[in-house]
Amino acid sequence: MEVRKVNLKNYSSLRVGGEGDLISFSSLKELLEIVMYVRSLGLRIHILGGGTNTFFGEHLNASLVLRNEMKGISFEEKGDEVFVTSGAGELWDDLVLFASEKKLWGIENLSAIPGTVGASPVQNIGAYGTELADIFVSLTAFDVSNMTTVEISKEACAFGYRDSLFKHEGGKYIITGVTLKLSKIPAPNLTYKPLDSLSGKKGLEVNDVRNLVIKTRKEKLPNLEEYPNAGSFFKNPVVNAEQAEILSRSFPDIPQITCLEGFKIPAAWLIEHIACMKGERVKDVGTWPNQPLVLVNYGKATGLDILDFSNIIIAKIKEKTGITLEREVNYID
Ligand code: EPU
Repeated sequence: MEVRKVNLKNYSSLRVGGEGDLISFSSLKELLEIVMYVRSLGLRIHILGGGTNTFFGEHLNASLVLRNEMKGISFEEKGDEVFVTSGAGELWDDLVLFASEKKLWGIENLSAIPGTVGASPVQNIGAYGTELADIFVSLTAFDVSNMTTVEISKEACAFGYRDSLFKHEGGKYIITGVTLKLSKIPAPNLTYKPLDSLSGKKGLEVNDVRNLVIKTRKEKLPNLEEYPNAGSFFKNPVVNAEQAEILSRSFPDIPQITCLEGFKIPAAWLIEHIACMKGERVKDVGTWPNQPLVLVNYGKATGLDILDFSNIIIAKIKEKTGITLEREVNYID
């Protein structure tokens, strides 16, 4: 077990953060040792996957960043269904690539989402009309409160829109592996634009969908290497029928998408049309001109700059609509 002093900037896709202590683990045995060590020192821990949903402050007090590097993908066939199990430390898109190479349907719409497999259930990742919960079976986790490994079913994960048990349990579980149910039988989900352009295509392959998702994301979203970002910075807010009615009276053009929880209002629309901050920049933080839901570090931004900028957006939208945007990306200091 080796605690390393690192520049946390290099472990967050927004490229902000000061120095911090980091330990990596690639087995349950190592994880157990680390948890015992952390307990003996009374440190706070923060689990890091790909660092695409976290940004750090300049000073981290009494905390330790744990990087999950548990790898390995295996699968079990049961007729046309294939149960794929992946270590939490695998990159999510490597798992999608694996499925695509094996011609397995189910996660192709979730292509090119940065981050790790272990992070995917935490916020129930979703894109182009598919979310993780649609193909999720169960996960394994280390329960820090009683030092045991547990299996957690889909029902117990309590998935919602960009939400799950793991956002509310205060660090009780460290996810170690995830099992998904994929299908050998073509099951394309082409309802979302521009994937609908593929519907009716003869001999459609998993890879055709994957390639279109990758192309679309490239066009709309900033390249991580060039423009550090964390994907969607806010969740799309969900309002009830009464609020939806009031909003459409005040803002006749406001898009509202019916969903299980109520009416989803695109945060990108609120940022563009209500906050009027599409493509805006303060210091080195800005909203991406093609998709303002993404905040970009244009060079020397700090975690606090990003936090301040996001608070300006939140305040403007709150003042005009009463809606409080919720950050999808976590600030750790
Ligand atoms: N819109 C604008 N202005 C813009 C862009 C979008 O007003 O400049 C409005 C439009 O009304 C548009 C709507 O926002 O129809 C929705 O935009 P989009 O389809 O791009 O999706 P999104 O709701 O903004 C979500 C996910 C993305 C995912 C896309 C595609 C969340 C928080 N974000 O974005 O996820 O790729 O759908 O399915 O749910 C991520 O989580 O990092 C991420 C990129």
